Amino acid sequence: MKERNQERWMKAQSLLEKLTLDEKIAVVHGAELFCTGAVPRLGIPKLRMSDGPMGVRKEFKPDCWADVGLSDDYVTYLPCNSALAATWNRELAYETGSVLGEEARGRGKDVILGPGINIKRSPLCGRNFEYFSEDPYLTKELAVPYIQGVQQWDVAACVKHFAVNNQETERLWVDVEIEEEALRTIYLPAFYDAVTKADSYTIMGAYNKVNGEHCCQHQQLLDDILRKEWKYDGTVISDWGAVHDTVEAANSQLDIEMSVTNDFDQYYLAEPLKKAITEGTVKEEVLDEKVMHILYLMMRLHMIDGNRKSGTYNTEEHRQKAKMAARESVVLLKNDEKRLPLCETEIQRLLVIGENANCAHAAGGGSAEIKALYEITPLMGIKKLLGGNAKVTYIQGYCRKDKKEEPETNWQETSLEDGGGKTTHQEADDALKEKRKQMREEALCVAKEYDHIIFIGGLNHDQDCEGNDRADMKLPYEQDELIQELLKINPHTIVTLVAGSPVEMGTWIDAAKTVVWGWYAGMEGGTALAEVLFGKINPSGKLPETFYKTHLDCSAHAVGEFPGGKSVAYKEGVFVGYRYNDTYQVQPQFCFGHGLSYTEFALSEIQVEAKQSCVICNVTNTGDMTGKEVVQVYLSPKLCDKKQPVKELKGFEKVELLPGETKTVEVKMEEGVEGRHVWVGTSLERLEQIM
Ligand code: BGC
Repeated sequence: MKERNQERWMKAQSLLEKLTLDEKIAVVHGAELFCTGAVPRLGIPKLRMSDGPMGVRKEFKPDCWADVGLSDDYVTYLPCNSALAATWNRELAYETGSVLGEEARGRGKDVILGPGINIKRSPLCGRNFEYFSEDPYLTKELAVPYIQGVQQWDVAACVKHFAVNNQETERLWVDVEIEEEALRTIYLPAFYDAVTKADSYTIMGAYNKVNGEHCCQHQQLLDDILRKEWKYDGTVISDWGAVHDTVEAANSQLDIEMSVTNDFDQYYLAEPLKKAITEGTVKEEVLDEKVMHILYLMMRLHMIDGNRKSGTYNTEEHRQKAKMAARESVVLLKNDEKRLPLCETEIQRLLVIGENANCAHAAGGGSAEIKALYEITPLMGIKKLLGGNAKVTYIQGYCRKDKKEEPETNWQETSLEDGGGKTTHQEADDALKEKRKQMREEALCVAKEYDHIIFIGGLNHDQDCEGNDRADMKLPYEQDELIQELLKINPHTIVTLVAGSPVEMGTWIDAAKTVVWGWYAGMEGGTALAEVLFGKINPSGKLPETFYKTHLDCSAHAVGEFPGGKSVAYKEGVFVGYRYNDTYQVQPQFCFGHGLSYTEFALSEIQVEAKQSCVICNVTNTGDMTGKEVVQVYLSPKLCDKKQPVKELKGFEKVELLPGETKTVEVKMEEGVEGRHVWVGTSLERLEQIM
C-alpha cells in the first residue's frame, strides 16, 4: 500500500469543508446510470464510470438503459479474463490493462468497472469468463499488473466483486456461508493484492450476502478487513442495486451507491440519507468520510487540478496488443498424432463445421458486452491466413433455439427483479431436434468428401452470461452427437472449442486426436486461433482452471452446494478447483496448468534456494520450433495435523526459447519453503518433487 499523499488529502479536506449537505449527498450516489452527481460551483465533476473488462462498454443514455446510438463508442475488444489467465503472462496482463485504461481515458471515463477477480468455485458460474482462475495465486499475479496497466492512464480500476461472489443463481440475495480459513486463503488474497500491491483506486462491493450480511454494508468485509486490516483508503462502490438499507450502508465503509433504476433521488444514499442525517439517525461524519474517499480519488486521477493524461481508443497498437494476448491464450489440449500444426501449402480443400467458426461474441455476456470495432471470427481468421489458395467450405452443423422477439427493455433495467439470477437448463422440442438432425446429416454428408476438417463449436454468451449459471457442463445444441459422428467419418477431425468455461468431452474425447481450446479472445481471436492451427504461432496457453470430466467432479458440487437455495454453504472449504481433485484424487479431463506445444521442453538442474525462497532451473527447447513454456512451482506441507491441499501453486515463470536453446529460469515465491515439499514442472500432472 502506497503512503497516502498528504497534499492531496489536505486539498480534499479543504474542498469538503466548503460543501453543503446537499452537495455531499450528490457525490455519494448515482445521479445517472453510470455517473455520480457533480458540484459545479466548486469544480467537482461527476465521476464517470463504464463497464469493462473486455473493453469500454457502449454509451448509455443517462437515465434509461438505451444506447445513445452513435458511432463514437466502438472500441478495441480485448480477450476475456479467462483467456488472459490462460496466457500465464504477467506482461500481457499489464499491456491488456493498459489498453483498457487508455481507451477508458480516451472515452472520457474516470473509473473502469473491472477487472473481475472472483474465484471460479464452480465451472457452471455464468460469469466465469470475466474472471481469471480457480487459483488465488494465478489470479492475483495477473490482476496486479492488469490494474497497474489501467491506472497508469489516470483512470481508476474497480476491482470486483468484493467478495465471495461466485455464482449468478439468486445473485442478489444468496447468502454465502463460509468459514474464515477458506475466506482468507481462497477468496480474499487476490483482493488483498489488488488493493495493497496494485493500489486499485476503487473496489466494487458484491450483490450477495456473506454469513448473513449484504456485502455492500458488511461490517467485517468493509470495515474490519478492507479498511482496518488492509488500510484501504480508496473508494468503495456498490454493485448496481446492491445496497439495501440507508443506515447500514451509511455506517458501513461503502462510499458510493449505484443502481439500475432512474429514481436517483430515492437511492438509499440520496434523499433517505439526507433525512437520516437531519433527523440524527446517521452522523454527518460518516458522510464526510465517504466524500473524502471520493475527493481523494478525484485528486489521484487529476480530475480537479486539470493536469491529467489523455488517452485514445481504437489504435493499431491496441489491436496488436489484443492480438498478442489472444495468441498466447489458445490452449492445445491434445495433439496425439501431431496432426497440428496444419500445413497451409498442403491443403487444397478444407471443411469448417460449427457455429462458433462463424460467430462474433463481443456483444454478449451481460455488462461485459462490447461494441467492438470489429471481430475476426475463426472462419475469417482461417480464410485470411489461407489467402485464397485453398477452397474453404463452411457448414453450420447445428443451431441454437430461435430467439423469441427481443424484449423492449434492456436486461439490466429489470435485473433487480426475481433475485437477479437463474440456472438455465437446456431444452429442445421435437421440431428443434428434427432440425438439428437434418443439419447434422447435411454436415456429415459433406464431411465424407473432405480430408481436412476443422470443427469449431463450444459455448456462446447464451451460456457464459451474467445472471445465468449453467445446469451442467454439457455442450449445447447436440454438438456432442455431431462431434462423435464426425470423428467416425474422419478421425483426424480437429475439434476446436471456443468458450468461456469448460465443457464435458467424455462422449468423444478418446476418439478425438486433436483438441484445441480457444476463449472469447477479443477482436483478433479468430486471427490468433488460425495462426495456431497453421503453426504461425506455437501454442503456449495453459489451463487456468481444472477441466473436469463433469461438474460433479468439482468440489462445490461434490458437497452438494452449488447453486444452493437462498443460502449456499461452502462446505468444501479450501478444497477449491485442483486443490480438491489433486488431494482427493478425482481425475479431471485436463488438469490445471495443462497445455501442449508444437515443440518439447526439458527441465534440468532444478535447485531450490530455500533462503531466497526461489527455484532455479534450466529449461531447454528440445524440439525444432520456437516456443514458450511455463515453469510452475507448487508447495505442499510436509507435516500437518489437518487435511490440507496436497499442492498449491506458489510461483511461475513463462519463458521463450528458440529451438535447441537453454535458459536458466528463476521462479520467485512470496512464501518460504521451510517445512514444505517443493514440486516443479509444466502442469499439475507433470511435476517433479524436488524437496
Ligand atoms: C454487474 C457489475 C457491473 C454493473 C454495472 C452489474 O449488473 O454485476 O459487474 O459493473 O452491473 O453495469
